[in-house]
Amino acid sequence: MSDASPLTPSLSDVEFPKRIFSGIQPSGGMTLGNYLGAIRNWVAMQAEFDCVYCVVDWHAITASFDAPESFRTATREMAASLIACGIDPEKHILFNQSQNPDHVELAWIFNCVARMGWLNRMTQFKEKAGKNRENASTGLFVYPNLMAADILAYKATHVPVGDDQRQHLELTRDIAQKFNHDFERTVFPIVEPLILGAATRVMSLRDGTKKMSKSDASDMSRINLRDDSDTIAAKIRKAKTDPEALPSEPEGLAGRPEAENLANIYAALRGVTLEEALREVGGKQFSEFKPILAETAIAIFAPIAESLNRMMADPAEIDRILAKGAQRARAVSNPVLAELREVIGFVHG
Ligand code: TYM
Repeated sequence: MSDASPLTPSLSDVEFPKRIFSGIQPSGGMTLGNYLGAIRNWVAMQAEFDCVYCVVDWHAITASFDAPESFRTATREMAASLIACGIDPEKHILFNQSQNPDHVELAWIFNCVARMGWLNRMTQFKEKAGKNRENASTGLFVYPNLMAADILAYKATHVPVGDDQRQHLELTRDIAQKFNHDFERTVFPIVEPLILGAATRVMSLRDGTKKMSKSDASDMSRINLRDDSDTIAAKIRKAKTDPEALPSEPEGLAGRPEAENLANIYAALRGVTLEEALREVGGKQFSEFKPILAETAIAIFAPIAESLNRMMADPAEIDRILAKGAQRARAVSNPVLAELREVIGFVHG
């Protein structure tokens, strides 16, 4: 399949420059789960590496279409939330996916690289499609291929995400490997997931065995970035727990999913390990611990929500930031797509 092209090296150990890519769906506002599992790490990466961050509006329509005006607002709110959390759209690239068509062009190519068997194994598809698989959109089925395209359109090497995206990133690696192998040249890097911190999987406040999610029917199950301080305090006060006090060591959390979740959240908010957090709060009853947890969460979220609300008053400015980010994103991905057209053999001018 390969003919020697000056554009790409043949299969070898190519060193790709370190570049970060990650995405978030604008399907509901940002939650504490998104923040602790991913966004805080996105912010930290900016000090050292080139970062590309994306509000993935094409992924959001795989579930259902929203009313156009609420969809636009949700995309702007997610972009503003990222900036409020500390993403710098001047130094790094921040945009919404649908403003860079290179993602869909590459996703189509990956639809022809990924195998049905690979996608059939995706647990998120099974969870999201539920019992009525026949009624799921075909977009939902090929969702992971678009995700691989998001990342590889920039030849990104590292992807900060929460634990629930691990399997999708393995698929991205499989796609890159198969493409490189089939065309006998190292076009794509094999990405490394960055799953970091004490809360890589934040669970629902109502059920410690279920993931905290933007799309859960119960708002009491999650803390939203835009919740005011009273709401955050009330949600933590009502969070499900058990009658025991907090243990002083992580082993004491075995079989206590709700206690484990709240302890992990506390550790992550404080930026310490679970061991360190339990050394501090072990022995406390939940009646005593919950107000401490609420105060810690509010101290972090209140200033972020304030800056988000300020930005939402000027949607035109958010649109300008996203348009500029998209232009810079296209400048990075256009040459990658041009290289691919050459490698695959598409006729183009
Ligand atoms: P999304 O929008 O569901 O979530 C955005 C990020 O938040 C993390 N996350 C969590 N982390 C810990 N605990 C939780 N309860 C929790 N809920 C969500 C997610 O792991 C994610 O990092 N498919 C992706 C979006 C995407 C993407 C990409 C990510 C599209 N293209 C390319 C990385 C690279 C998603 O639905 O994330």
